[in-house]
Amino acid sequence: MGLRLGDLAPNFVAETSEGKIDFYEYLGDGWGVLFSHPGDYTPVCTTELGAVAKLRSEFEKRNTKVMALSVDGLENHKGWISDINETQHTVVNFPIIADEDRKVSDLYDMIHPNSNENLTVRSVFIIGPDKKIKLTITYPASTGRNFEELIRVIDSLQLTAKYSVATPADWKKGEDVVVGLSIKTEDIPAKFPKGHKVVKPYLRMTPQPDL
Ligand code: BEZ
Repeated sequence: MGLRLGDLAPNFVAETSEGKIDFYEYLGDGWGVLFSHPGDYTPVCTTELGAVAKLRSEFEKRNTKVMALSVDGLENHKGWISDINETQHTVVNFPIIADEDRKVSDLYDMIHPNSNENLTVRSVFIIGPDKKIKLTITYPASTGRNFEELIRVIDSLQLTAKYSVATPADWKKGEDVVVGLSIKTEDIPAKFPKGHKVVKPYLRMTPQPDL
């Protein structure tokens, strides 16, 4: 059985392109994104790691550390990172786990044998400061991920952890949010003084409360 939302993200110590890292120590009390890719020196993965490197400051603004994983070794990682830097015009500035013994891949169920028994799929885990899993997504090898979407989800997770709100379809930071169902309509003005709109008794919108 794979990991599910709300499960504790297992800790591990792993060799990475930035040395041996204890995952929990690396995350500290912030948020984390752990993502696997099928292999080094592959075209889609090259663009994905470049995209994450370019978004590093966006992750940092959200107190979020990123870590990648593949089942290739450290020497491969080193050579491939310089290819990524060269071709994607960036600097890979986050650790990539060299999971040759598949310890972490197995722990996080990143190898799906009916897809490919030798390679990790494109798994993503967002982990909260409580070390619980807040999001999982799995993409096939042939489809590169949208890392802006992960930033969007982190914005939603961080907001909804603080306020009794939820974020609607395609929401982006700054747009109106949904008032949580646990809040009675008559209590909304006290909790959300910026205003609200009752579209239906179960669909009440309010401006993003922390802006
Ligand atoms: C890629 O990253 O380009 C890739 C990896 C495995 C299978 C297909 C594509």
